[in-house]
Amino acid sequence: MPVSVLDLIGNTPLIELTRCHDGPGRILAKAEFLMPGGSVKDRAALAILRAARADGRLQPGMPVVEMTSGNMGAGLAVVCAALGHPFIATMSAGNSAARARMMEGLGARVVLVPQVDGAPGQVTGADVTAAADEAQRLAKSESAFYVDQFNATEGIAAHEITGAEILAQADGPLDAFVAAVGTGSTYLGIAKALKAAKPGILCAPVEPEGSEPLAGKPVVKARHMLQGTGYGTVPPHWDAALMDFGLTVTDEDVIDWHRRLATQEGLYVGFSAAANVCAASRLLASGRVARDATVVTVLCDTGLKY
Ligand SMILES: Cc1ncc(COP(=O)(O)O)c(C=O)c1O
Repeated sequence: MPVSVLDLIGNTPLIELTRCHDGPGRILAKAEFLMPGGSVKDRAALAILRAARADGRLQPGMPVVEMTSGNMGAGLAVVCAALGHPFIATMSAGNSAARARMMEGLGARVVLVPQVDGAPGQVTGADVTAAADEAQRLAKSESAFYVDQFNATEGIAAHEITGAEILAQADGPLDAFVAAVGTGSTYLGIAKALKAAKPGILCAPVEPEGSEPLAGKPVVKARHMLQGTGYGTVPPHWDAALMDFGLTVTDEDVIDWHRRLATQEGLYVGFSAAANVCAASRLLASGRVARDATVVTVLCDTGLKY
């Protein structure tokens, strides 16, 4: 039966990665890059706008404004195009130009905000704050709906559904879940659903080395390659009860696993996806889980965005 573009958001396949990691244990990965905006953020974009339309905060035809690293913006651009809302994205100039092109191609107006202390491809918490300040200013001047992804809880609820999908798709026991954290929507929603169904499952956020506030460490290296995650602050809705321990990856790890996923699995995904799979593999090798354990993670976005 024919479907709408919005029906392409959610229900992504769960892939078993058998080539880039040859044991011990197994890695399952949710193919979030397959959604129309090319990333995991499509779910939060749709959930937040649907809720705002349902309770009247977002009226038909009203403009939408958001600060984005590019992925939430692409998701919002897809949903705004389909629902008939003009969309303005503010993005740090340090995020990749491919993201701005995609959003503009989907009809969005993109406002690039100069970096504060990051570098191209390495966006810091201060850079994100600058882009968020510009979004808030624009939301007022354009009388627009401000999405405010870091504070909106609908994104977390949307990912409880991702967690339920994982539970339905997994063909055996699940022992651990790992994922990088931006707003935390992906991690928190999935971890909540998995822990509710399987209280013994271990859940671990993945942070870039030197920027590990979730592990309780001071930020000593704000610049890293995990665009969209690892902003050096604890997200507003963080729930420490959903974190058993932290996992860390370096930029070198991320480059290595990005290449492994592409050349060995045929999966050309982004750097946070590479970080997630690297962390899953390390966890399986660490002895912290059984040798036949299954770790589930998320392939956050397509590599075409970099
Ligand atoms: C590439 C990438 N990976 C992971 C994430 C993390 O998603 P969340 O905001 O749900 O923590 C984002 C968020 O924008 C992202 O852009």
